[in-house]
Amino acid sequence: MAAFTRLTYHQRVHNNLLSSLTGPAAARPRTFATTRIRMSLQESAPSLAVVGVTGAVGQEFLSVLSDRDFPYCSIKMLASKRSAGKHITFQGRDYVVEELTPDAFQGVDIALFSAGGSISKEFGPIAVGKGSIVVDNSSAFRMDENVPLVIPEVNPEAMSGIKVGKGKGALIANPNCSTIICLMAATPLHQHAKVVRMVVSTYQAASGAGAAAMEELVLQTREVLEGKPPTCNIFNQQYAFNLFSHNAPVLSNGYNEEEMKLVNETRKIWNNNDVKVTATCIRVPVMRAHAESVNLQFEKPLDEERAKDILKNAPGVVVIDDRAANRFPTPLEVSNKDDVAVGRIRRDVSQDGDTGLDIFVCGDQIRKGAALNAVQIAEMLL
Ligand SMILES: NC(=O)c1ccc[n+]([C@@H]2O[C@H](COP(=O)([O-])OP(=O)(O)OC[C@H]3O[C@@H](n4cnc5c(N)ncnc54)[C@H](OP(=O)(O)O)[C@@H]3O)[C@@H](O)[C@H]2O)c1
Repeated sequence: MAAFTRLTYHQRVHNNLLSSLTGPAAARPRTFATTRIRMSLQESAPSLAVVGVTGAVGQEFLSVLSDRDFPYCSIKMLASKRSAGKHITFQGRDYVVEELTPDAFQGVDIALFSAGGSISKEFGPIAVGKGSIVVDNSSAFRMDENVPLVIPEVNPEAMSGIKVGKGKGALIANPNCSTIICLMAATPLHQHAKVVRMVVSTYQAASGAGAAAMEELVLQTREVLEGKPPTCNIFNQQYAFNLFSHNAPVLSNGYNEEEMKLVNETRKIWNNNDVKVTATCIRVPVMRAHAESVNLQFEKPLDEERAKDILKNAPGVVVIDDRAANRFPTPLEVSNKDDVAVGRIRRDVSQDGDTGLDIFVCGDQIRKGAALNAVQIAEMLL
């Protein structure tokens, strides 16, 4: 019997790896300063469905719903036929995983989808037709002009008017994880000085490629340390003690799909087709949480100190920027945390005056980059 416990699958793999390399990992609080509340079963609350509940993001959905005391009157656990019949314990109750079928959305108010693009394309419209509001984690509908693409701290207005209880289904898309993490930090600065050009370089973790990629990184790390040839099933090259260009398909313009998501989604979220964005996305042998170097060019001047103040006051952002101690954000520090951490905040010496800044951003892409962002969207539906 599979049981949902405090640690998600990703956390357990992460902690196992840490244990094998550095000794037991301690449980970490979710935010840099926060409290946790629970038990949210309420008769008058919306009915929920989690599609892809057995997956990495699906398990994190349960964790976030619980952490944020999200109110619900019922919750359906949906996955593929393979998982139908498995048991999941959530907030002290036993649930049986059901196979995803068109009938599954009968009476469902909010459906949180994380089962891949093809499942979203097939079942998203079916759920909407049954009156459900779908919050989708895949890329299936992100660039559809009729579908809001939302980061609650950045563009909540994009989904205004969409609420449960109106008897009307709708689709809302969750942006790509790298886009969310980048824009959590870049947007407060953009609102102040208007970004005209943004250059992003990512350092993306194994967890972004799913549970199997994390397992392969653990396995390869052991194999390489033991002098054995690494097993390469998920990626076609050695991942442990290496890094390589993101595994997303490379397009005819030479960019890969992950890079073009950063370009196109930023423009849609900022509602600004003029902003120039370029990106280089790299997979690094980090277990969980993405890091991004972001270079910004502004229309108006913005100095380092003002930028630091703006970021310190930005919701969902924490500043870690200690030059004297050479201490800045790391993926490990933000793993399993809600907030995105920003540091290395410095004037870009290649640009005139105060019109350019470099920043370094780290965020847990499975939490703020996926499950947390989607649950925050769901909260705005209430
Ligand atoms: N991992 C991340 O950091 C991340 C971040 C942002 C967005 N996303 C997106 O979230 C989605 C899920 O990613 P993940 O990493 O959680 O993947 P995953 O660990 O591979 O989980 C996939 C989930 O989809 C379910 N599924 C597969 N085929 C299905 C079918 N035919 N019918 C119903 N359910 C089916 C699986 O159920 P079974 O267990 O029964 O196979 C499982 O619950 C993807 O679209 C991904 O792009 C992921």
